[in-house]
Amino acid sequence: MKPTTGRNVVVVGTQWGDEGKGKLVDWLTESAQGVVRFQGGHNAGHTLVINGVKTALHLIPSGIMRPGVTCYIGNGVVLSIAKLLEEIAGLERAGVQVRERLRISEGCPLILPLHAAMDVAREAAREQGGSERIGTTGRGIGPAYEDKIARRALRAQDLKHPDRFAAKLRELLALYNHELLGFLASGQIAFSEALTPYLKDGALQFDPIYDEAMRQAEQVRPMLADVSRELNEAHQQGANLLFEGAQGTLLDVDHGTYPFVTSSNTVAGNAAAGAGVGPGLLHYVLGITKAYCTRVGGGPFPTELDWETPGTPGWHMSTVGAEKGVTTGRSRRCGWFDAALLKRSAQVNGLSGLCITKLDVLDGLPELQLCTGYELDGELIDILPLGADDIARCKPVYETMPGWSDSTVGATRYEQLPINARLYLQRIEHVTGVPIHVVSTSPDRDHTIMLRHPFLPD
Ligand code: GDP
Ligand code: IMO
Ligand code: MG
Repeated sequence: MKPTTGRNVVVVGTQWGDEGKGKLVDWLTESAQGVVRFQGGHNAGHTLVINGVKTALHLIPSGIMRPGVTCYIGNGVVLSIAKLLEEIAGLERAGVQVRERLRISEGCPLILPLHAAMDVAREAAREQGGSERIGTTGRGIGPAYEDKIARRALRAQDLKHPDRFAAKLRELLALYNHELLGFLASGQIAFSEALTPYLKDGALQFDPIYDEAMRQAEQVRPMLADVSRELNEAHQQGANLLFEGAQGTLLDVDHGTYPFVTSSNTVAGNAAAGAGVGPGLLHYVLGITKAYCTRVGGGPFPTELDWETPGTPGWHMSTVGAEKGVTTGRSRRCGWFDAALLKRSAQVNGLSGLCITKLDVLDGLPELQLCTGYELDGELIDILPLGADDIARCKPVYETMPGWSDSTVGATRYEQLPINARLYLQRIEHVTGVPIHVVSTSPDRDHTIMLRHPFLPD
């Protein structure tokens, strides 16, 4: 008899991140036995609100608040062990059991203090050189992925071999110090303790970085695992797995607003490579989509509004939506919903369904604009073009829709939504060509309208 295998769902952000992935992953975990992060690092900030209590997660999968669920950090994640231990300690203080339920791939490239220093230095050097800052989170994500691709990264498995770790760290430090010294000597960045406390006499020091990593390694080693094997076995045994994307599709290093992107592939296909499972195991892709758009950091944003002037629709989104970053505390830029952007997202992720979040934030706006395409160099186009340069020249084409005055906050059934809110959702489905399967109406776990459950078989 054929064994019963599980059903697996991938959750991705379809815009520029912060769409509400954490809330939905926590909610969907009710139907899963394992939750997997497969890319990004602690640049992510995922917020869960359970019975009014808020939890912010950066590295640990958003399934951790459900007892008994196993959480996995796949090989595609760049891992700061310092930040991981900090996050574990915070959760344990709040009474959440973590260590026994967290499995970390030995293949994860490590983020060390030198990566954050280089990230900050590169941003400063870009600005000095006359280029716009990318507006990174300063967490060392870009440099860590560079080392991975250049085949010189220290990986989690090296934590088990102090000599190997030391030799690789020396090599990496030589390279980093050479580049940092160049920046310092040319006056592109100031010598500053703010760059990193590990910088002394003009160079990053080996001893403090090594000693700290070795101390932390003791705590991390018991959680290291062959995550690919464990996921495949769990699947064979019938477990439902949930793959949790970080960032958003327009921050994908290939498909996003390059170069104003993060340094990983954020699209659904990377769930397979970044966790070590075959693409055939990804059965359903849920695209988390804000009912409007936000972006934090630099780069083009065709439907961006003035979000600072009181009384404007952009200001309404910013204040009612509490649009402040979870990781860096920066204000998020706000703008109208962009269906042409979503078409690109649907295409590159193979979305099975959409989850529209923060519909409640639009309550009370008299009318809404919905971008259906752009004018680019005198031509009308209906899908977001590739890369920042072309996107920056796109002029959005809008449809106007009536708003609604009734509150949608906390709605759990579609019939509770005002007619104009339903018409707005229907229009989004029609223009993007993707069915809406879930709607979220507040930060709270339970304030969710389910139209088609992603874990139910097709
Ligand atoms: P993520 O990075 O995609 O997980 O999203 P973030 O947690 O960074 O940002 C989403 C923010 O919106 C968080 O503060 C959530 O608590 C909040 N949120 C999520 N869904 C809803 C919703 O439907 N309505 C409202 N008002 N807030 C929501
Ligand atoms: P979650 O998972 C929003 C943005 C940064 C910057 C760009 C590159 O919470 O949705 P990086 O530090 O990754 O090199 O920065 O990407 N960025 C995010 N924006 N949400 C995130 O994660 C982000 N992670 C990175 O602001 O523009
Ligand atoms: Mg976030």
